[in-house]
Amino acid sequence: MAFLRAHSYSFLLLFFFAFAIASAQLSPSFYDKACPGAFRAIRSAVYAAVLKEHRMGASLLRLHFHDCFVNGCDGSVLLDDTPTLTGEKTAAPNNNSIRGFEVIDTIKSSLEAICPQVVSCADILAIVARDSVVALGGPTWTVQLGRRDATTASFSDANSNIPKPTSDLSTLISDFSNKGLTTTDLVALSGAHTIGQARCTTFRTRIYNETDINTSLATSLQSNCPSTGGDDKLSSLDASTPFTFDSCYFKNLVSKKGLLHSDQQLYSGGSTDSQVSGYSSNSAQFFADFKAAMINMGSISPLTGTDGEIRKNCRKTN
Ligand code: HEM
Ligand SMILES: *[C@@H]1O[C@H](CO)[C@@H](O)[C@H](O)[C@H]1NC(C)=O
Ligand SMILES: *[C@@H]1O[C@H](CO)[C@@H](O)[C@H](O)[C@H]1NC(C)=O
Ligand SMILES: *[C@@H]1O[C@H](CO)[C@@H](O)[C@H](O)[C@H]1NC(C)=O
Repeated sequence: MAFLRAHSYSFLLLFFFAFAIASAQLSPSFYDKACPGAFRAIRSAVYAAVLKEHRMGASLLRLHFHDCFVNGCDGSVLLDDTPTLTGEKTAAPNNNSIRGFEVIDTIKSSLEAICPQVVSCADILAIVARDSVVALGGPTWTVQLGRRDATTASFSDANSNIPKPTSDLSTLISDFSNKGLTTTDLVALSGAHTIGQARCTTFRTRIYNETDINTSLATSLQSNCPSTGGDDKLSSLDASTPFTFDSCYFKNLVSKKGLLHSDQQLYSGGSTDSQVSGYSSNSAQFFADFKAAMINMGSISPLTGTDGEIRKNCRKTN
């Protein structure tokens, strides 16, 4: 009897803990009552933007990544600089690089018109990332919602927490692990580089000085990326199908055609080779892992409950 009482007491405790955690969790139905039209409004704006410029799908996906890796998915990447706040937009990984803010502005204004101050900018980024992947032929998934927006941003954390294209595998693994993401997540999420472009400055050393790159690819990339100057000249991260979300990124890695040093590191004789070669021949596996990894990334330290705010304008705090 004493055993039974102790047992049900710990069961009760467990129940309370589970409840406490659940209340800080995200849910797919968060806006079902307060803004049922949100999904449709966001999807139509994303599709219009991607139709106008295919690369925009890539740029929008990347915004969610750069948001989540800097103090959690809290919309901090969207804040403009003010006299009292230095935002993340000019931090090294973002400056002259990150884009798509006008699309987010358009979406935010249309949401403010149908349900004012309900849908957070952080959640907009998560839905937009999913819709962008779908618009370019990738998999769909159910987006978890209920994030709130930060009232601060961190230039220095943007500089230190966003992974660098010059990093080796061990550093990439620890960058992701520091955010609670696994090595499986790292490889699956890197598959985002199946779409979009990179500037010469991010891959110059690779195409002039590295040996684990296909020579004819390196030579052809050099024609649009001089050894000095031309920092902003663009090349596709996946030269074979630059605007289709598919598994060609992994096929490229297997044939030593990764654009960034960090890309090729995932297939360079290390622990992630088998995952890369698996995805290169099984896109269903890549899609399944990518979906799960996007949900994991989207769950990094969200502000929930009464923390943060719901911004009226994604570029500034209320
Ligand atoms: C693994 C570590 C990663 C590194 C080192 C990295 C680095 C980079 C770099 C250097 C660029 C080119 C930026 C420029 O030249 O302006 C880029 C582009 C891009 N990244 Fe990553 N990235 C990583 C992971 C990710 C993840 C997890 C995602 C999304 C889930 C992502 C999505 C993208 C997309 C879509 C682009 C193209 C953007 C466009 O065309 O505007 N990246 N990345
Ligand atoms: C961002 O880029 C601009 C234009 O190249 C440059 O003038 C500025 O100094 C850069 N900002 C930072 C913080 O590096
Ligand atoms: C390639 O390596 C050489 C020797 O280390 C160095 O002088 C040169 O600046 C490097 N070039 C690029 C484009 O990284
Ligand atoms: C490099 O890529 C080209 C073009 O796809 C291919 O013909 C060539 O065989 C590759 N080189 C090596 C060494 O694999």
